[in-house]
Amino acid sequence: MSKNTRVPGYMQSKAARNTRGIIGDREIRFKCSLQNTILDVLRGRPGWQEVPGPNIQQQNSQQNNKPAAGSQTSTQPQDGKGTKTGYQPVPPIQRNSDGDWDFYWCDREWLHQNYDTMFLHEHQKILHFRNHYELTRKNLMVKNLKRLKKQTEREQGKSEGLSFDFHPTTYELPSEYHIFVEEFKRNPGITWIMKPAAKSQGKGIFLFRRLKDITDWKKGEYQPLTDTTREVPETYVVQRYIENPYLIGGRKFDIRIYVLVVSYNPLKVWLYRDGFARFSNTRFSLDSIEDAYVHLTNVSVQKNAPDYDPEKGCKWSTMRLRQYLTAKHGSEAVKKVFKGIDNIITKGLQSVQKIIINDKHCFEMYGYDILLDSDLKPWLIEINASPSLTASGKEDYELKFGLLNDLLNVLDLENRLTGKEKRIGGWDLLWDDGPVLADDGNMECTTNGTSVTTANSFLGCHNDRKRQLREIYTSAQAIKKT
Ligand SMILES: Nc1ncnc2c1ncn2[C@@H]1O[C@H](COP(=O)(O)OP(=O)(O)O)[C@@H](O)[C@H]1O
Ligand SMILES: [Mg+2]
Repeated sequence: MSKNTRVPGYMQSKAARNTRGIIGDREIRFKCSLQNTILDVLRGRPGWQEVPGPNIQQQNSQQNNKPAAGSQTSTQPQDGKGTKTGYQPVPPIQRNSDGDWDFYWCDREWLHQNYDTMFLHEHQKILHFRNHYELTRKNLMVKNLKRLKKQTEREQGKSEGLSFDFHPTTYELPSEYHIFVEEFKRNPGITWIMKPAAKSQGKGIFLFRRLKDITDWKKGEYQPLTDTTREVPETYVVQRYIENPYLIGGRKFDIRIYVLVVSYNPLKVWLYRDGFARFSNTRFSLDSIEDAYVHLTNVSVQKNAPDYDPEKGCKWSTMRLRQYLTAKHGSEAVKKVFKGIDNIITKGLQSVQKIIINDKHCFEMYGYDILLDSDLKPWLIEINASPSLTASGKEDYELKFGLLNDLLNVLDLENRLTGKEKRIGGWDLLWDDGPVLADDGNMECTTNGTSVTTANSFLGCHNDRKRQLREIYTSAQAIKKT
């Protein structure tokens, strides 16, 4: 790890080194299933020691049999830039040895196989909640959102339900095929998108306008339920395609947002102020609905485009995007956009709050995919439980390195903070059993003269994380001394 990627103020001072962590005066032992930025972060963290994880073969077979949506658990650096580690395969270890680590960045497959038989010690922290797929499978996410919307309408009235109108109309196939057909007939000529519920990276996705296209698909993909040699048909979602995406330079993009949940009960949520917009490489047009390079903004799709330039990449930082939108539309309009995104983040999590098996040992870092339309309305496309941590270039590596280091700062296994912080590096506390308000000027005057509270949300704002970390570590140290 290079010098300048170290987090200043982190375990550097003598006093800090002498800090007694919750684990005691010994090194924190970590395991990690991935070999990208997260491994670099963990290996570079002072006082942390690696214990062997599952071997490469195990990981590869897990990759090919992904159980849930949204994952990009890469075991190989995709571009040679993303990782600096020359990680060697290690022999398989006994899977249920649960006492030999303090922190485990595991893959979802491992968790599914082991969680139910595993005893977790007081100090242990592990990535993923047991049934994270309630939010990260495309069909279940929509089902849970629809349910909370109905409940809200029942309890608080129809108008409150409107705050849930941020995901495009969606049906699960094959189970809701007939309802979908009715909807399809009510809206002739519009475009729909078909997506496998549990795949990621744009795999298996296609757009269509004629029912015939889907009947062909139906025949090909999940024909004979009576055919016992075939497995149950793969679940898809069919979703209204957003035909008017906001375009920059004629290109479509979506926004990747990082959200950290450290507890579901009470719900405690952090929002990372950095992220990025992922652009498609080809100008947007509705004439070529079969062209994935036009319509799917996944980096894994775009990097295969014939004219893709790896130097230029296809990303803008969220800060650059926010600045661009502010210059074009003014800060009030942009504030509204980002407020809408905060609403999407919290509603999404609330929709599964009672369903997720809460466990104080678990945490989750979600990658939200948000698309803006030409009216600047944000739409929720999906939520990933394993957002890609493989860097696509230097800037991307720095973003992910800071993101992950600050995630460890939030979890604070070393017990160096007070637990009362509302900002830790690039993470801002968005929800703590209720909305968290910004410290500075809790009330803000709107253009029509009414006062509104401002949330502790700074997505796309300046991320001076290193300076901020220095400050909070110094102040926490002073508080702890007294
Ligand atoms: N309803 C939609 N309208 C417009 N574009 C969409 C829609 N759904 C998906 N997309 C595009 O397709 C991409 C992949 O879809 P997504 O649901 O995120 O699946 P995956 O899990 O394969 O990433 C998105 O990043 C977005 O660019
Ligand atoms: Mg996606």
